This record gives sequence, structure tokens and C-alpha cells, in this order.
Amino acid sequence: MKTDRQLKELWFKFFEKHGFKKIPGYSIIPENDPTVLFTTAGMHPLVPYLLGETHPAGNKIFDVQRCIRTGDIDDVGDDSHLTCFEMLGNWYLGSCPKEEMIKLSYEFLTSKEYIGIPKERLAVTVFEGDETAPRDEEAINAWLACGVKKENIYPLSKDCNWWGLGSGVGPCGPDSEMYYDTGKEACGPNCSPACDCDKYLEIWNDVFMQYKVDKVGEKAKKLERPNIDTGMGLERTVAVLNGQESVYDSGCLKKVIDFIGSKAEKGYLSSDSAKRSYRIITDHLRSATFVLGDERGVAPSNVGQGYVLRRFIRRSVNCARNIGLDCKYFADIASIYIEEYGQDYQDIKANSEKIKDELAKEVEKFSKAIDEGHREFEKVINGIERHKQFAKEGEIVENILSGKACFRLYDTFGFPFELTRELANERGYSVDEEGFKKAFEEHQEKSRQASAGQFKGGLADTSKQSARLHTATHLMLAGLQKMFGKDVVQKGSNITPERLRFDFNLDHKMTEEELKTLENFVNDAIAKAIDVKCEVMTLEEARKSGAHGTFSNKYGDEVKVYTIGSVSKEICGGPHADNTSELHHFKILKEESSSSGIRRIKAVID
Ligand code: ALA
Repeated sequence: MKTDRQLKELWFKFFEKHGFKKIPGYSIIPENDPTVLFTTAGMHPLVPYLLGETHPAGNKIFDVQRCIRTGDIDDVGDDSHLTCFEMLGNWYLGSCPKEEMIKLSYEFLTSKEYIGIPKERLAVTVFEGDETAPRDEEAINAWLACGVKKENIYPLSKDCNWWGLGSGVGPCGPDSEMYYDTGKEACGPNCSPACDCDKYLEIWNDVFMQYKVDKVGEKAKKLERPNIDTGMGLERTVAVLNGQESVYDSGCLKKVIDFIGSKAEKGYLSSDSAKRSYRIITDHLRSATFVLGDERGVAPSNVGQGYVLRRFIRRSVNCARNIGLDCKYFADIASIYIEEYGQDYQDIKANSEKIKDELAKEVEKFSKAIDEGHREFEKVINGIERHKQFAKEGEIVENILSGKACFRLYDTFGFPFELTRELANERGYSVDEEGFKKAFEEHQEKSRQASAGQFKGGLADTSKQSARLHTATHLMLAGLQKMFGKDVVQKGSNITPERLRFDFNLDHKMTEEELKTLENFVNDAIAKAIDVKCEVMTLEEARKSGAHGTFSNKYGDEVKVYTIGSVSKEICGGPHADNTSELHHFKILKEESSSSGIRRIKAVID
């Protein structure tokens, strides 16, 4: 039986052996990327490097990256959907040796020392070609050279074999996906990895990033320095290799399911509804642990990442009620995750107390909403009963909760539909499932439109402006340190194409005069038109050179140091403006408290 830990170790061993360098996984909350709330793929934090920045660890790297994708949140509870997953990844930055990567992929998948899939059980797909890019003969030949039979190589269209970020902008290109053939009967003469019959299960994806899209809807352009980006979904692959139908059947997720089983009143398999609740708690509390414990972690709130976090915790509370699990055990579940993942993501270990405190606080807050939800439920029932009492002659009032009422309980009070149905059934009522689905879909459509709005613009599209704002934060921090001493450090940074937001420690509200001094400091540096210089050096050399660094252990041994004349020297991943004159003019919009001892500045450049 393979566990997620075992697969991780195999991945590390394999790529180390082949001359790749391990980089630590990045934060789950993207820095300076206005397009998404969470890190959604292993390559996501590497976009600047895929677009041409040099990476301090070199051009052959690998890692394991925690990711959150919230698009499927309502499907969590089935066998395969998760909001939170880990992705194993490796990259060639600035080169695209396709044949070499395919050979490596084949070795890792089929060698007994690693995954050991029987050769005939491996099926692969490649890009069949269209007006954007030609049929991927190079990939086809590379697979044939490995010994994969022609009938197991499937050339498919762009829908299947082209990969880029969900935002529609950034690096992209044809890919080659690797599938495990379960040996099930083919579903028809055209059965292929592209169909949903589950004969073929995807385990790995090699993306040949030879193109980029600058603006949504624009045609892909050739990248000057192409790359290879690969990604393997950890939990899914382990389940496939173990022949298990569900991602909850192995590794750490199974440990949590078993733990819940030892504490809850209802068993995991006692009903479909119980099983779903177990799985939602298991998935959502892992996401919550990662978000709360992240180096850029947030607390539950009504906006952005904080809102999604709140949803994770509240749904878990409802599910816990559904299976008779005391929410005090959430802290133990978080501990299981902290223990398991602390070695890959040190921040969750360092923040373990904060994770448990925040979970407990949110559970307490929501307990009040849950009671309100139950009162709302009673109101709905009473309404129907009254309607019955005063019904006109011949009018039939059925014992059915409308779809709208069920959706309101779901959306406003966090009642899963199954919970409402269960409560209703206990009272001799049924629920309008179709009506609920309809209300739900209308709501989803609205959310989709809203999130499409969030993607508008995109990272590549706005990367120049973001880089400039990023340089402005370095100048500002230098100014703050000059005014208040070197103890002032960055506590958070968030950049959208429109503005920067910068958090730092300071024990008082800044006066008008202080803000003016800071603004002048930054504008002086802009007026001097100073070049921004980037050097790669070891962490030790960087420290010796006097470089300032907040997240100094993030990039492994080698780091990038950005120097702006004699004004600023910081360890940082970039990217930045080339010269301070690109910033034109810097203006502070607002200075306010962010939390105790932490101030926040919002500023723009124009
Ligand atoms: N970035 C590629 C993916 O997420 C590897 O599938």
C-alpha cells in the first residue's frame, strides 16, 4: 500500500538523482497576484520564473506544493473532489527538453524502484495540433522511443491537451497527460483517456510551456524562453495506484476519517449523508489548517480568503452536528494535519496554537448562527402548518419545504441540503430537491460570473504594473526603517494592478507629517532614476551583504537580492521594475491599524 508520504519521498529521491534541486513549497496565499485567492497549482507561484525571471535555485527544480481550488467546493463529499490537495511538480526553466522529460516521466512511472506501473497499463495523450501549434510529433516520438505502443498514444484536441492557468493568461502550451489504464472493458470503439468511463485515470501531466497569452482572448505568442512544467496530484495518484475509488481511503485523510469514526455518534458508512459529512470535515479542516497556519495566514472574515476560510469551518460544524461529533475534536484533527504536514510546510508547525485558537473561536461564533438556522427552519415549518389551517376549500397544501427555503437555509445559515432533508423527514416533511438544485445553480452561475470578473486582467497582463508597485514597497520599507529604525519589518503585502497594501510593525499611528516624509522619501528615490539590480547569492552571502529579508528561509539555499542604489537591499523573489523612474509618482492613500501593533498603508503610483 502506497501512502502520500511514500509517494512524496519517491518523487524527491527521483528528481534529486536526476540533478534537480528541491525548493520549499510556497505559501498557499499568493503574494502579489491579484487574480486568485489561493495557490491553485504547483506552477502558480513560479509564474514570474516561467515568464523569464531567474530562479535562485537554478533552472531544474522540484517541490511539493499545497494548493486550494474552491471551484468544486460543493462536490466535496464524493470520492474524488477535494478543495485542498498537494501537487508534486518539477520544472525545466528556460528550456524545453521534451524528450528528456518524457524519458524521466516514463522511468518514474514504470521503474520498480519508483511507481512500477506495468508498461502496458500506461496510456498517454499528446496535442493533435491546430492553428496555434503543430501536432506534437516530438512528444509522440519520445513516447515511442520509451517503448509505449502506438495504440496507447492518443493525439487529442486543445480541449484535452493544452494547459494554462484558469485566468486564461500567462504561460501555457501543449501537454502530454499520463493515464493509468485500469484494465476495465473499453466503453466503445472510441474509448480513450478523453472519455468519462473511468477506464483511464489521469496521474501526471507534462506541460510544454512554449507559449504565453498576455491578455484574455488574445492569441498565444511564442515564449522566448520555453519551459517544462509538470504536475501530479498527490492524493488522486495514490488512490489510483492503490486501486482505491476514493481519495479518503489512504494516507493522512484516512487517518482523519478513522479519528472522526472513533469520536462521532454515527459511523462513516452508516448512511450516504454521514459519509459525506465525514469527508467534508476531513477536507475542509485540512484547508482551514493550511490557511490559518500559513506564513501569510488570515483569520475568518467576510471577505476574500477569510470568507472562504469561514465557509470551510462553518460547513464542518454543520457536518459535525449531522454525525454527532463534538466540535472540540476539531483541534485534534488540526493536530493530525500539523504533525503530518509540518515537515513540508514549517509555518503550520510554528502557528499550531493560532490554528487551534482560531478554529475554536469560529466554532463558538457559528454555534449562535446554527441556532438561528434551526429557528428559521421552525419558522418555515410553522408557515406551512398555518397555510394548511387557513387553506381555501379544495386547496391542497403538501408537506414539502420549497427549494427556495432549503437554499436559504443552505446559503444564509450554512445548512447542507442533506441536513435540511434529514430534519424535514424527521417531522414528516419532504423537500423540493429539484427546486433546491435550481436555486443552487442560479446562485452558482452568479458566483461564476463574479469570479470571472475577478480573473479579468490577469497576472501577465498586469505584471508590469504589479512589478512597479512591488518596487514601491521596497522603497517604502527603506523609508520606514530610516524613520523608525531597522526593527520595522514587512508583515504582509498585497498588490493589485491598482494599488499596493503593505503591513508593517509600528507602535503608533503615523502622523500627517510622518506620512509626508515617507512619501517624499519614496518620490526622491523615484526622481533619482535608480537602476534596480538583481543578484543571486547564498543566504549567508546575502546576510553578510546587509540585505534585509523577512521571508529569508523561503527559497532554499540560494536567494535573489534586489538592490536599489544605496536606498534598499532586500532578499526577494521579484519581479521588480528595472528602474525607479518607471514608478513616476508615489502617493499614500491611507494609513490605518491592521491588527494589534501592525499598521497598514495603502498607496498608489501614477
Ligand atoms: N500545471 C500543470 C497542472 O496543474 C502541470 O496540471
